[in-house]
Amino acid sequence: MLHTHWLGQSLLYFPQLGSTSTHLKKLSSDEVAHGTLCITDHQTKGRGQYERDWESKPGKNLTFTLAFKPTFAERFHVLTLTCAKVLVDQIEDNLGLKSSIKWPNDVIIDDKKVGGLLTETTFSGNKLDRLLVGIGLNVNQDKFSEELDEVATSLKKEFGHKIDREKFLAEYLSRVEHEYSRWHKNDAELLKEINCKLVGHGNWVRLKVNGNVSEDKSKLIGVNEQGQLTVINNEGGIDTFSYEQIRLIAD
Ligand code: BTN
Repeated sequence: MLHTHWLGQSLLYFPQLGSTSTHLKKLSSDEVAHGTLCITDHQTKGRGQYERDWESKPGKNLTFTLAFKPTFAERFHVLTLTCAKVLVDQIEDNLGLKSSIKWPNDVIIDDKKVGGLLTETTFSGNKLDRLLVGIGLNVNQDKFSEELDEVATSLKKEFGHKIDREKFLAEYLSRVEHEYSRWHKNDAELLKEINCKLVGHGNWVRLKVNGNVSEDKSKLIGVNEQGQLTVINNEGGIDTFSYEQIRLIAD
């Protein structure tokens, strides 16, 4: 099913693995080609953002990591957002479901999380070696733990039918390959498309900055070329925040 030129052409599949991201991180540079896909059907030690675990029922979902080896380290958060935007586009095009990107990198449907992305980098000296974009997408999982049920969903739960994971992934990789070249050449339209998919875009939202919920609301403008979140504060000034500094708080 794979029609890509380079993305996923180097493929590491494991029926069971601790974490696809950890696996790709541990390999030497020579063992990881640009575009390598590492995927497992049963991830036992999945990692999420903020040192959290990523749980996924075996054989039901998509848990995989893509390795990119660009020649520059700048704007890598924009690449993560590009991968998130592609998910949102494909969910809409394939299933007719509206999803959005919740900063920094959750994919949500009706305020419930359907997917999450985790980007990590490895360096060789001070030179970027690889960007690892780990993606967990809840595809056919019907049941979540009591704790997660309120906040998580799957494509099947929202769409009402089982989804062909292989087909979905093959199309996703083609789409990402295409959008990667736009990211690489710093296509300004790409940023606009990402921003349109951001939860709260153009609205006054409450932010958690460096762990503290801010008293005043800020108007969310979107992500800039460096991958920073730009907002207008209540005094009319412009603030930019790095990726890790900010979380969006539901009101
Ligand atoms: C998050 O929303 O917290 C990010 C979740 C990222 C999970 C994926 S699943 C594949 C890859 N391997 C991991 O250990 N984590 C990422």
